[in-house]
Amino acid sequence: MNSHILATEHICRSFTTGSGEIQVLKDVSIELPKGKLIIIKGRSGSGKTTLLNILCALDPATSGEVIFRARNRDGKKSKKAAEPKHQKGKNDEAAEPELQGGEPENDAASDLWISDETSYDEIRYSTLSDAERDRLRRFHMGFVFQSVALIPIMTAYENVDFGLRTAGYTGNRDKRIRESLASVGLAERMQHMPSQMSGGEQQRVAIARAMAHRPEIIFADEPTGALDTAAGLTVTQLFKNLAEREKITIVMTTHDPGLMELGDVVYEIEDGQIR
Ligand SMILES: Nc1ncnc2c1ncn2[C@@H]1O[C@H](COP(=O)(O)OP(=O)(O)OP(=O)(O)O)[C@@H](O)[C@H]1O
Ligand SMILES: [Mg+2]
Repeated sequence: MNSHILATEHICRSFTTGSGEIQVLKDVSIELPKGKLIIIKGRSGSGKTTLLNILCALDPATSGEVIFRARNRDGKKSKKAAEPKHQKGKNDEAAEPELQGGEPENDAASDLWISDETSYDEIRYSTLSDAERDRLRRFHMGFVFQSVALIPIMTAYENVDFGLRTAGYTGNRDKRIRESLASVGLAERMQHMPSQMSGGEQQRVAIARAMAHRPEIIFADEPTGALDTAAGLTVTQLFKNLAEREKITIVMTTHDPGLMELGDVVYEIEDGQIR
């Protein structure tokens, strides 16, 4: 029933250019299973980034619909799941931690962070205002890019902290930063500046930053594109572990055939359609 987190219905995307209209995506209908590593492959120019940008509500489809099942742990069917009540008073913190990216009350709750009892609100992208779209992205999603976008004058710790503040995280930030950096194998590098780390290590900090606020889904456009084979494999394996351990859905694009076998689901885009 609740087996997928994101679905597209008959997505088309075309661009108008000087030389006419190009149809990049043609009637794409897919369902992305929850808590899995999903890989999107396809040759250069096939539309991977275009599709990813539509899935993460950055770019609108020309036609068709995208439906995101946003986590709503208190079970209420509010239309506004994309609008966390992050301005609420301190006493309300425990009431809806999932919408604020806050801490669960105790470790047992942590295990149930995304459980079968979790209820979901179906968010249809076509109905969202720009502000709602922003909130959906900020609170429910995480992002990793090909070129690592760490802030160069901040340590690894501070970079993750910055991400938590941006997401309005109301839990114990210090604890969560340490957990997140430890989970990407960088507990010993917390006070390092980006310039003091390898490209692969920097990308792992970016992953810690993307997952620290407990998003339900992380989008990664060619996250291994700038890394050598070994570092690329480490990063992809890390994503796989995150999906398994933290039940975060990961959607990544790649060109690298060696990484595809790690995907739980692999979609290929060819001629604007999914195979
Ligand atoms: N804003 C735009 N305006 C016009 N054409 C665009 C625009 N964005 C993308 N395209 C075209 O859409 C097609 C798909 O581009 P996209 O970036 O999605 O490919 P990709 O599969 O991510 O490629 P790569 O592997 O090189 O990153 C390309 O032909 C590109 O030129
Ligand atoms: Mg691309």
